[in-house]
Amino acid sequence: MVNKVNNSRILITGGAGFIGSYVVEELLQLSPKKIIILDNLIRGSLENMKFFADNPAVEFRQGDIRDTNLLEQCIMEVDYVFHMAALRINACAANPHEGFEVMLKATFHVADLCTKHKVKKVIYSSSASVYGLAQHFPTPETDNPYNNQTFYGAAKMWGEQLFRSYKFMHGLDYVALRYFNAYGPRMDTDGKYTEVMIRWLDCIKTGKNPLIYGDGSTSMDFVYVRDIARANIAALQAEVTDEAFNIGNCEETSLKQLLAVLLKVNRSELVAEHREENSINPVSRRLADINKAVKLLNFTPTVSLEQGLKELSDWYFDKTKNK
Ligand SMILES: NC(=O)c1ccc[n+]([C@@H]2O[C@H](COP(=O)([O-])OP(=O)(O)OC[C@H]3O[C@@H](n4cnc5c(N)ncnc54)[C@H](O)[C@@H]3O)[C@@H](O)[C@H]2O)c1
Repeated sequence: MVNKVNNSRILITGGAGFIGSYVVEELLQLSPKKIIILDNLIRGSLENMKFFADNPAVEFRQGDIRDTNLLEQCIMEVDYVFHMAALRINACAANPHEGFEVMLKATFHVADLCTKHKVKKVIYSSSASVYGLAQHFPTPETDNPYNNQTFYGAAKMWGEQLFRSYKFMHGLDYVALRYFNAYGPRMDTDGKYTEVMIRWLDCIKTGKNPLIYGDGSTSMDFVYVRDIARANIAALQAEVTDEAFNIGNCEETSLKQLLAVLLKVNRSELVAEHREENSINPVSRRLADINKAVKLLNFTPTVSLEQGLKELSDWYFDKTKNK
């Protein structure tokens, strides 16, 4: 297969973020000419970029994708775009006006400017949130998005449809990747909506029993961040366009099971304490069918939950060792 990254110029919006920083690392192994990272650091960080900060092929531009002039300046210099900058699901719900500006309006400008400047392909970070509570488990891409109830899921679906329409109207090539539940080192540890595994790692550190809200049967499909980054590269390299792909680990893990694995890899004997569910979660199950990605992108996940949680734990304990 031709290495499309070799000698190419690539823009990554949100490249200082959790997943984006791993995409940069994967790309650097394929000899790009230039990688531009456009990120306003609302959640991303210089720390995330420290592994490639000195690489002359990488240029970090601190700025906002809502700044259309800056966005155009970046897009006009590149061959390919990974569009990853986004607000989190809770941030969209807390501030839908900002959600509209970032998730919809700026994404529209990405599609429009990529067409104007003849970008060869866009890889769009979508989400399993588009399904809401899916109709089938494992969930194929053909499940419909009508069960989604969130602004975030709606925005991601709109983004996918936007790129589809630009393919139809202007021939803009794109692939959308619907990530399931991403985890791994560099995931957010001190934001307002920290993921449950980080709260449990804090419990393991301090010897406090971890809490499970509800009966712990809610399930997710946890996919390791490096596997997601590899899926992004595969989506760029493959001769595939105008398609959406599930990116998951194809393993359904309940919160109860997740805690059990986390305790096991940390050799902890703490026991879970149950509390009454304090929020209504409309999505009680997630399990990806990734046959389409296996077939068309040659993508298969490589990191087991146990291995991934071990790496996450080591990273987190090292990061917080003086706290
Ligand atoms: N983490 C997950 O479980 C998950 C699941 C499904 C989809 N996704 C999607 O994957 C992509 C990457 O997610 P992530 O987990 O790395 O999140 P993240 O928050 O770590 O990364 C997003 C990056 O975008 C930047 N950003 C946000 N608004 C911006 C703006 N207006 N201008 C410039 N930069 C801006 C942030 O600073 C951050 O670095 C996002 O599009 C997200 O919606 C993530």
